[in-house]
Amino acid sequence: MKIYRVGIIGCGRIGSLLEEDPLRGKPCTHAGGFNTLPNARIVAGCDIDLPRLKRFGKQWNVGNLYSDYREMLHEEGLDIVCIATWTHLHSPMVLYSVKAGVKGIFCEKPIATNMKNAREMVRNCERKKIPLVINHERRWDSYYRKAADIIRSGKIGEIRTIIGNALSWKPEKLPVNRYGGGALFHDGTHLTDLLLLFGGPVDWVSGHENRPHGRKFIEETAYAMLGFKNGTCGFIEGGGARKYFNFELDIQGSEGRLL
Ligand SMILES: NC(=O)c1ccc[n+]([C@@H]2O[C@H](COP(=O)([O-])OP(=O)(O)OC[C@H]3O[C@@H](n4cnc5c(N)ncnc54)[C@H](O)[C@@H]3O)[C@@H](O)[C@H]2O)c1
Repeated sequence: MKIYRVGIIGCGRIGSLLEEDPLRGKPCTHAGGFNTLPNARIVAGCDIDLPRLKRFGKQWNVGNLYSDYREMLHEEGLDIVCIATWTHLHSPMVLYSVKAGVKGIFCEKPIATNMKNAREMVRNCERKKIPLVINHERRWDSYYRKAADIIRSGKIGEIRTIIGNALSWKPEKLPVNRYGGGALFHDGTHLTDLLLLFGGPVDWVSGHENRPHGRKFIEETAYAMLGFKNGTCGFIEGGGARKYFNFELDIQGSEGRLL
């Protein structure tokens, strides 16, 4: 059996640290996930935060630790690079990994802070035939798979409307060029991915956003209405200045409803 050599860039929460949270089902991080695969071995890790990097090395028994991802990519001959850093770094890291000749890239969501960078990432990976996976893991969750099976079986009839929200409190005044957007852009990318899973291809979109700090800063709330090609209608809300977190989907069919 071929053992794939894996390197992880970003040893933070989703890269490694959340694995220490007793309340989460395991594995719940990239290191934890790769560590359970019989055909993958984490051979290297990279972070600019040295205490985190050391902690990662100790937890996963990885000796080859780097503070410069370029150096890691040149030294390690990786099959797979996993990118679990801040969103504005996904694009330069993916593009550099393509140049360094990795065979597969597993990158955190959101793919990038803007469409231009996202398209460039996809184009470069396609040109070199390198699979680029963006981590919208919820569509593989057994509950959502079950919902997809119920919809496919016709039990709730024809899907008329899908309502989704990713609610949270007001964001800080954060610049768009670094953070990309607010809640709909961050946790909300899981929401849009699930709407595509349940609703299929989208025909048209219209939206509205509320930016109390102006256009250069991320929005407090974003709303969108989506028309799917099959006639289903979608409504989503991200943010919403609520003092609670909520992530919810309401899938309404002609004969039943999934909440
Ligand atoms: N799929 C999910 O459910 C999920 C959950 C949480 C976070 N995320 C995404 O994962 C990404 C990381 O989020 P997080 O919460 O783990 O953040 P985090 O801050 O906990 O971790 C990011 C790590 O990247 C490191 N880093 C920054 N610049 C670097 C560089 N140049 N080289 C190497 N390491 C560098 C930081 O030091 C930090 O340790 C974000 O894009 C976020 O949206 C996804």
